[in-house]
Amino acid sequence: MKNIPVVLITGAAQGIGAGCARVFHQAGWNVIIVDIDRERGEELSERFNGDRPESAVFLFCDVAALDSLQALVGDCEQWFGRLDCLVNNAGIHPPATPTVEMSLAEVERVLRVNFLSTFAGCQAAIPLLCKTHGTIVNISSMTAVLGQHQSVAYSASKGAQVSLTKSLAIELGPLGVRVNAVLPSNIDTPLMHSWANSLPDPASALDRVAQLQVLGRMGTADEIGHIAFFLASPASSFITGQAIEAEGGASLDY
Ligand SMILES: NC(=O)c1ccc[n+]([C@@H]2O[C@H](COP(=O)([O-])OP(=O)(O)OC[C@H]3O[C@@H](n4cnc5c(N)ncnc54)[C@H](O)[C@@H]3O)[C@@H](O)[C@H]2O)c1
Repeated sequence: MKNIPVVLITGAAQGIGAGCARVFHQAGWNVIIVDIDRERGEELSERFNGDRPESAVFLFCDVAALDSLQALVGDCEQWFGRLDCLVNNAGIHPPATPTVEMSLAEVERVLRVNFLSTFAGCQAAIPLLCKTHGTIVNISSMTAVLGQHQSVAYSASKGAQVSLTKSLAIELGPLGVRVNAVLPSNIDTPLMHSWANSLPDPASALDRVAQLQVLGRMGTADEIGHIAFFLASPASSFITGQAIEAEGGASLDY
């Protein structure tokens, strides 16, 4: 088995996934970027390969296509010979919608992209991670524990990721595989900006969101990347089944 550790990150072409990819790559890991955005994914992979040849690959995959995702994860040793960490990050946030107006088809879609893909990715990665005593990091959300107005499907999908994390950690701990989740509050990503742009006054919406954290700002994608990297590294070797709240103090001062 080759010596360089390998991470596979879904939704890594931009936002938090790209932040994770940058941090792992800077730390010397090889990176498998999975996304439906071919242009941005290939661009990031080329940049990484420019810095360090043959250290990154982009793979097109819609994580909602669960069979394709499982085939891709199950076969991923062909790229760098091993898998040490799976980051389940790809996710969508539908526009705020009152529950009575949300179609069941849309609920199913949100659960498929945000939760079922996490389950499917984990399932396919388990045999590979058992060989390396690797880790899984699930990018959930503070909405899993705090709820969110008119976002029942989204917050439920994020809560399901946390429950999965805890139950899977129990199952995989004896096999030497750790499983953790990161729960960001508001992070400055393209997803956040597209949400703000759907409102009448995007600038003041972004400012309001920044003030929700006691730190007075949103988090950055790379800050979440550093937490994911910590959870994948031996520095966190006694942490498993945890939901790490990366929220800049957003839930304080009740
Ligand atoms: N931005 C925040 O404030 C925030 C807060 C809490 C949790 N999160 C979670 O973090 C994760 C990333 O969010 P982000 O803000 O970086 O979003 P983003 O929209 O900026 O980036 C998401 C990436 O995932 C990809 N993607 C989307 N659907 C996909 C699919 N079906 N298959 C493959 N790739 C797909 C997109 O192409 C994009 O590159 C999501 O799971 C989100 O729920 C974000």
